[in-house]
Amino acid sequence: MVDSYGELKVFFGSAHPELGEEIVQHLGIPPGKVTLERFADGEIYVRYLENARGVDAFLIQPTCHPVNENLMELLIMIDALRRASAGRITAVIPYFGYARKDKKDAPREPITGRLVSDLLVCAGAQRILTIDLHAEQIEGFFNIPVDHLRALPLFSRYLSEKALDQAVVVAPDDGAVKRAKELADRLNLPLALIFQRRTSSGSKEPVQVVGEVEGRIPILIEDIISTAETVTIAVDVLMERHARPEVYICATHPVLAGPAVERLNREEIREVIVTNTIPIPPHKRFPQLVVLSAAPLLADAIQRIHEHRSVSALFT
Ligand code: R5P
Repeated sequence: MVDSYGELKVFFGSAHPELGEEIVQHLGIPPGKVTLERFADGEIYVRYLENARGVDAFLIQPTCHPVNENLMELLIMIDALRRASAGRITAVIPYFGYARKDKKDAPREPITGRLVSDLLVCAGAQRILTIDLHAEQIEGFFNIPVDHLRALPLFSRYLSEKALDQAVVVAPDDGAVKRAKELADRLNLPLALIFQRRTSSGSKEPVQVVGEVEGRIPILIEDIISTAETVTIAVDVLMERHARPEVYICATHPVLAGPAVERLNREEIREVIVTNTIPIPPHKRFPQLVVLSAAPLLADAIQRIHEHRSVSALFT
């Protein structure tokens, strides 16, 4: 095995230790020892409890809720590793928070996705490993290598085992068209698109449906379910167009903020299929929720990066 960056070590922050544990189990190594504490005023303290000099270090930390805490903890963990002379530092960010602000939509706005990229590099990250960035151009915000994995093969494998009869893959808004087309191609199913727009009050409304949905089982695909407004508007439109009330919704990142669970817990929705890039607390779990683990994919990618083998093989 090529080992030019030293021994492989995986550390994780407090955002999602269950995912970290699953990843190290797949890799067959123990988790790296690190202490994470808060000072009385809330400031974060990090100390590695084992040698990090010369190691090939992977830090697992989705920047999900509480976003600012988790991001800051990740930055401090990177800083401490750099100062401990790690051979290489890879930030493994299964869910990359702030990615939705990837451009200015109005004057005097920030581009927070870019700011976060700069912060990570400034702290000392030398590589990024992530899954389904909200926008592909975020890769270009970095001047270090970014390995950008896709959850789509997990969804397509899961759905193909169901062999759904008379289904149609639906993009619930224009941002989801590329993903939906790829899923439709993989499942050999037709594609339909729903276009939505924001009203002056800030809510969304459907404007157009393209494609045949009547009598078909809809399979929606999204990168993120936040408040579930986008997908539930799509479900309403599909029901009005006489699609079958057996909807499957796939989304990589279950942010599940605010009214999301209430909105998704309806009888026309058969399953909401997500991954565990973000921890889902018990009060946000509901009967139709299916969680596919991204840990094997991340573990495989970590092993390949460590051994300088191709990661693109994982996309197929
Ligand atoms: C937006 O561009 C994203 O792809 C998702 O459609 C959006 O973040 C989902 O948000 P919500 O669930 O609140 O409608």
